[in-house]
Amino acid sequence: MTEAQTLTLIRPDDWHLHLRDGAALPHTVAWSAAQFARAIVMPNLMPPVVDTAQALAYRARILAARPAHSAFEPLMTLYLTDSTPPAEIARAKDSGAVHGVKLYPAGATTNSDSGVTALSRVYPVLEAMQRSGMPLLVHGEVTDTEVDVFDREAVFIERHLDPVRRAFPELKIVLEHITTADAAAWVRAQHGRDARGAPLQGATITAHHLLYSRNALFAGGLRPHYYCLPVLKRARHRAALLDAATSGDARFFLGTDSAPHARAAKESGCGCAGCLTAPHALELYAQAFAERDALPRLEGFASCFGADFYGLPRNAARVTLRREAQRVPDVLPYLGDDGIVPLAAGDSLPWRLLPVA
Ligand code: NCD
Ligand code: ZN
Repeated sequence: MTEAQTLTLIRPDDWHLHLRDGAALPHTVAWSAAQFARAIVMPNLMPPVVDTAQALAYRARILAARPAHSAFEPLMTLYLTDSTPPAEIARAKDSGAVHGVKLYPAGATTNSDSGVTALSRVYPVLEAMQRSGMPLLVHGEVTDTEVDVFDREAVFIERHLDPVRRAFPELKIVLEHITTADAAAWVRAQHGRDARGAPLQGATITAHHLLYSRNALFAGGLRPHYYCLPVLKRARHRAALLDAATSGDARFFLGTDSAPHARAAKESGCGCAGCLTAPHALELYAQAFAERDALPRLEGFASCFGADFYGLPRNAARVTLRREAQRVPDVLPYLGDDGIVPLAAGDSLPWRLLPVA
């Protein structure tokens, strides 16, 4: 039997994305708008997006940066801090534009200095979120420098996420960019459903964590463009993530965590964490699913389960991927003269997303 040469699916969305701000927006918004209908936009700007008014202003800047005729829809989030007032949750919910509140443990990753220092401090906010159905989006890593960097996700789950789940059994939680078998197993053990019948527990998975193990960081030398947080893990964890993503389990859905850093910020004595995947996101996911002969399962993961979790309609439009090799450019235009290096630069990808009308 000849293999199918095209794959058509409901237009996907990105449930975890960094767009940055200002002069970055025309680049980042165009990359994502070419791939996705909607995206959950992370609030870790400098300074962070901490209230509804700031989220609405940021949303307007993103909309203004869209390419002509693009209907790309940014779904906004708030950055949770020790001093977020519980009353902010009702304002966020009523705005209709804010779809989640992001928990960064203080110091866990890029632009997380204003994050939460102790989860007990934000319990009144989590209470308000549980009441209103506002999802908590979690960067699940401890910041304790005594804990090995490769163990920080598993330790976070045990020390912090389990207690939050027990204290707030009805809270909608997304464990973002999961990287370990431990995280996938923890998500699978959460069976709660909301009033609409959608899961209370979700998890996003990036393309890079599906495609690479930590060996990619050290292949023939130090490879800064493969460095992100949470950091790539052992091969057995990658296998567990592939199992989860291709299982058809609606608790696992697409979130690129595409995180643009200019070339000089990555190729540095202390390189920034974050991989740029948005420009070729679907092609990268298709490659990962093809590795498991699971392309028929890509649509649920990329186009259905995230929308269902967030209580949003699935997209009406469709997109097509064609089996046609394309080379990822070595560098793409971005803020300075140096540009930005996308993930898998120089590699040949087996699938190509056909332009969306
Ligand atoms: C993200 C960034 O650059 O904003 N970096 C990353 O490595 N993923 C922040 C984050 O999601 O952790
Ligand atoms: Zn992120």
